[in-house]
Amino acid sequence: MTIKKQFEDAFRENITRDGANKLFDYLASTDFFTAPASTKFHSNHSGGLAEHSLKTYTRFCKMLKLEHGEKWFDDPAHRETAAIIALLHDVCKINCYKIETRNVKVGGEWVQKPYYGFDDPLPYGHGEKSVYIISDYIKLTREEAFAINWHMGGFDARNLDGKFTVATAFTMFPIAVLFHAADLLTTYLDEKAAK
Ligand SMILES: [Fe+2]
Ligand SMILES: [Fe+2]
Repeated sequence: MTIKKQFEDAFRENITRDGANKLFDYLASTDFFTAPASTKFHSNHSGGLAEHSLKTYTRFCKMLKLEHGEKWFDDPAHRETAAIIALLHDVCKINCYKIETRNVKVGGEWVQKPYYGFDDPLPYGHGEKSVYIISDYIKLTREEAFAINWHMGGFDARNLDGKFTVATAFTMFPIAVLFHAADLLTTYLDEKAAK
């Protein structure tokens, strides 16, 4: 089964609140299913963004089961929250990666090699930008918005003010720290980067 189909199944089976269909149509109208997840750090291949989102969802579900037990998933609202956070946390990366070329020496010859450049057409931040985009289509609960907004955890540039608001957010919404850990573990343990 293709990554797009797996993503769509996970999305439609779990995310059913008002606006969900329009949100999926929006994703399908963009480069979400062909974009990479990064320029060079992880899953920097076509389709990498959807693949990363799906892998993060798998790991997040495992971590939620470990934390709350299997029964936690009996509640459709919990399943919906898990899917929204994980499948949609990186929609901020839509339309940001462009294939460019650079000259590389191979066997004494200069050849043109493609690579992904980054150019954000809507520079609104990272997690906060995902919340902004998703909110055009569905209403997020407070914990979903916090988990998506702060999914970069301590790596978020907003921590440079020295106040570490993220720590307060994690204390208020434990699912947010669990998701940050799921995103981090997926990126470094479940994915590779092409050189
Ligand atoms: Fe991210
Ligand atoms: Fe991510």
